[in-house]
This record gives sequence, structure tokens and C-alpha cells, in this order.
Amino acid sequence: KIYSASTTAPVNIATLKYWGKRDTKLNLPTNSSISVTLSQDDLRTFTTAAASEAFTKDTLWLNGTEESVTGARTSACLAELRALRKSLEDADPSLPPLSTYKLHIVSENNFPTAAGLASSAAGFAALVRAIADLYELPQSAEELSRIARQGSGSACRSLFGGYVAWEMGEKEDGSDSRAVQIATETDWPDMRAAILVVSAKKKETSSTTGMQTTAKTSPLFKHRVEVVVPERFKVMSKSILDKDFETFGQLTMADSNQFHAVCLDSSPPVFYMNDVSRNVISLIEKVNNLAGRVVAAYTFDAGPNAVLYYLEKDEPIVLGLLKAALPDLDGWQNKATVSAAVPDG
Ligand code: DP6
Repeated sequence: KIYSASTTAPVNIATLKYWGKRDTKLNLPTNSSISVTLSQDDLRTFTTAAASEAFTKDTLWLNGTEESVTGARTSACLAELRALRKSLEDADPSLPPLSTYKLHIVSENNFPTAAGLASSAAGFAALVRAIADLYELPQSAEELSRIARQGSGSACRSLFGGYVAWEMGEKEDGSDSRAVQIATETDWPDMRAAILVVSAKKKETSSTTGMQTTAKTSPLFKHRVEVVVPERFKVMSKSILDKDFETFGQLTMADSNQFHAVCLDSSPPVFYMNDVSRNVISLIEKVNNLAGRVVAAYTFDAGPNAVLYYLEKDEPIVLGLLKAALPDLDGWQNKATVSAAVPDG
């Protein structure tokens, strides 16, 4: 007999960036972060997890290619999930002993993997959610977020829909470093996002390596994590609850720019944006300046692709402008809305 469960997990795009770890094994961050979970038909990971007595080894297929399950990140997630299942089986011996069976995991992204489009976030969130469903675990999304975090830091935020905070926590074991929801997608329903794929190439410096270089070598980094981010965290959380797009947008752009500034301040310097990215920044700055308000806010992760946040009422302006000013971008100029959480079970 084969037991199986499937799920899809959405991507999340940070508006206050996670960049730096105080513990590289547990993925414990040096600052708290905030993101928006995006719903889009074309941008998600679909994962099926299956367990059977007949399987001889744990196996993971990512986009049709067999990947190692022995990597520290995947092993940590599998070990934690199996331990939770084992405690259910110990309490109820009539349950099938799934914790002792090998797993087959099949995961498909329908967007460019590792191009700085949060694929690891959706990937690990889907892996954890699919196995938790297969094991019928009673744990809340917040508890599961601690497990997904060990797969990839940003993955902890994809277990929630809407507007999400990852609280950095203080404890050494990471038990207080988890994601919590700030507001649901219906609390601020007119938020929209556009994803501009400038390049689908694999990035040159992975986030894991880049953030280590920054934490070790950037003199600006300390100021960012100790002074700037704690204040921004409070103000941005409040702007979400108040639906204050002006403040939310200004902080989103400022934080993207500061994240890329500490990358440049690293030794060797790390570059993620390219000329097209910089054109997007100039364009949006110009439009906002002309309008005398934030019409759209840009943000860039560890890659050249832009994500724009704007309100529904401004969609004709924003999309019209992009078409006119950046006609060369390919069909990935996608509209997205804020996603609900992935239902459990
Ligand atoms: C720039 O979560 O990919 O997207 O924890 O090493 O897997 P690891 O890093 P990852 O880093 C994401 C960095 C970022 C900002 C963010 O999503 O907050």
C-alpha cells in the first residue's frame, strides 16, 4: 500500500529582507523580516509525498531530476517531521507506522528555479506541508514554519497567506524563530503585484553564500540589523494593519535598496541587479515623483528580477507604463494577487 498527499505552496516576496544568519545550521536570522505571499497560477510549487513499506530509500525528484535527500537541509526537515509522526504512532499503535517507511517526494516548480524568484521558499514550504499532511500531523502552520525554516530561511513565511512576519527569535535552539501572520489577504484586498522576469538564469551567488559574505565583511551590515531593521519592522507592520500604502511602499523600496547596498558593501562585492533592474527602479521613481505619491513600489531579491507592489486602482497605469517603457521583457510580466494560506489536510 502507498500512502500519499499533495499540496501546492505559493511564493513569498519579502518587503523587509532577511539577509544574514546567526546560526547557519538552523537558519536563524540576524534580523526579523516581512513578506507578502503571492497567488499566481504560474508561480507555485506542486509537491506530492508518498510513503510505503515497499520503498527502499528516500527519494526526491525536483522538476524531473533526482536530487539528494542527504543534504543537511532536506534531512533536517525529514527528521523533524518523522519525529512528530513517531510520537503520534507511539500514542496510538493502531496508526500505520509511516515514520518507519521511506518517502518518495516529487516536486515541480513552474517558474525558473534559483533565478531569485523565491523557488526555495515555495519548495521547502510545499515539502513540509505535503509530508505533514501525509503524516496527518496536528501541528499549526506556526509550528511547521520552524521546520520549513531549516530547509530555507524564507520558506517559513510561505506557510502563511497574506502578510507575514518572520520573527527572528533569540533562543539558540531556534524554537522562537518562526513565521506569524500580520494580516490576511482579505484584510488588504486591493494589494497587487507584478513579477518582471528580467532574467531566468541561475544566479551567480546563492543567497546562502551571499548573506554569509555580507555578515562577515560589510561594515554597514551591523547598522542595518541593529538599528534600521528593528525600526522598519515596527513601522512596516503598522502600515500593513493601517493599509497605508504610502508608508508600506516607501519602506519596501528603501529596504530593497539597503539590502543591495550591503551586498555591494561586502568583500568581494555581491551584485544581483543588472541594467534592466536599474531601469525599472528609475522608471518607478520617476512615476512616483511625477504623481507626488507612491504609485508602485519595487523590490529585488538575490537576482535581477523585479517585483512591483501597487494598489488595484493603479493597475492600468502601472501595467500600461511597463508595456510602454520595457517592451522587451518577455511574457513573465505577470500580475499576481495576495494569496491565502495553503489549506492543511
Ligand atoms: C533576498 O531563504 O533563500 O530573498 O536561508 O540560505 O536558504 P537560505 O536563504 P534564502 O534567502 C532569501 C533572501 C532574500 C530575502 C528574503 O526572502 O527575505
